[in-house]
Amino acid sequence: MLSVGNLAKRSGVATSALRFYEELGLIRSERNSSGHRRYAQAVIRRVAFIVFAQKVGMTLEEIGTELAKLPSQRVPERSDWAKLSGGWTRRIDERIAELERLRAGITECIGCGCLSLDRCRFANPGDRAARRGAGPRFWIEDRRV
Ligand code: FES
Repeated sequence: MLSVGNLAKRSGVATSALRFYEELGLIRSERNSSGHRRYAQAVIRRVAFIVFAQKVGMTLEEIGTELAKLPSQRVPERSDWAKLSGGWTRRIDERIAELERLRAGITECIGCGCLSLDRCRFANPGDRAARRGAGPRFWIEDRRV
């Protein structure tokens, strides 16, 4: 069993964030005889999941929904984690696609309405992209930029 300090040290997550995750029910601890929180070693993996899920854009509510699929009375096994993989991997794929569009669009017209690049004249003459809605339309619509 780990103290909150040890969990913070190993996971790289601040104790305040760990307490917040616990308040949300994303992780659980037990109290020792002195009333201090103690975490099972397996909680480290949950914390890692929470951190990386946030990095790919999942909300804490969504993460909670995913983690609720894991067994609560025993340490989750590989097959338990696999139950999360469908939505999880789809989210990662979407994030990768977004980042690739971001990279590709850095020097190209993204249809945002600024008309500030020489390429905008050809790619988005007179801000035609505005007819399709707000925001950088070529990024949003996954159009090749
Ligand atoms: S980059 Fe903004 S309209 Fe082209």
